[in-house]
Amino acid sequence: MSGDLHARLRAATAAAHEGLERDLDWETRVATLPGYRDLLARFRGFHAAYEPAIGTGLGDGAFFDPRRRLAKIDADLAHLGLDASAVAALPAPARPRFDGPAPALGALYVLEGSTLGGRVIGRRIAALHGLDVDGLAYYRAHGPATGPMWAAFRDRLETVADAAALTEAAVATFEAMRDWLCGRSAERVRAA
Ligand code: HEM
Repeated sequence: MSGDLHARLRAATAAAHEGLERDLDWETRVATLPGYRDLLARFRGFHAAYEPAIGTGLGDGAFFDPRRRLAKIDADLAHLGLDASAVAALPAPARPRFDGPAPALGALYVLEGSTLGGRVIGRRIAALHGLDVDGLAYYRAHGPATGPMWAAFRDRLETVADAAALTEAAVATFEAMRDWLCGRSAERVRAA
């Protein structure tokens, strides 16, 4: 049935999305330019750990490579004044391991989905800090292709054979992201 797996995945992760959206406190965090930079630095660690693991598990560069966003974050951080050595020294969570395409797609669901809400956040940052392309590449995500890329991603979800592994990885990735962005380790960085 078309869209069935996506609908189930969305339902299974709805509470996790709600929790992350609530705890992220993004409006406060992006209200100042240093705050926005700190939040991006935190996302940088997450993408640095998860993108290689997703790439390996998925084994489909043609599909995944256009969805990688680590280089976009690095470009934004450089624009905001972090030099390459400071960027390379940023903390990252433990690298996960995805055994095969189903769990890798589950993790990618979280990163790809974040491009949707990210449009709202990006518009706010642009208005607050006068950024356009430079400094906003991560939140611009796939630009005008964001909608079509999301549609193609949803189609891909329907090809997954192991729905349990897909869902389990998506929920775990939401939880790991929430801990990394909003948990105690993030609090320590924000207080420093
Ligand atoms: C980094 C944190 C976030 C992650 C990982 C994330 C993840 C996701 C995912 C996976 C989806 C797809 C749901 C589906 O299957 O249809 C989604 C959709 C959405 N998210 Fe988030 N989200 C995040 C933060 C936010 C925030 C802060 C907002 C509010 C500004 C938000 C607003 C939305 C909206 C409006 C959609 C639906 C967009 C549409 O259907 O066109 N998200 N998000």
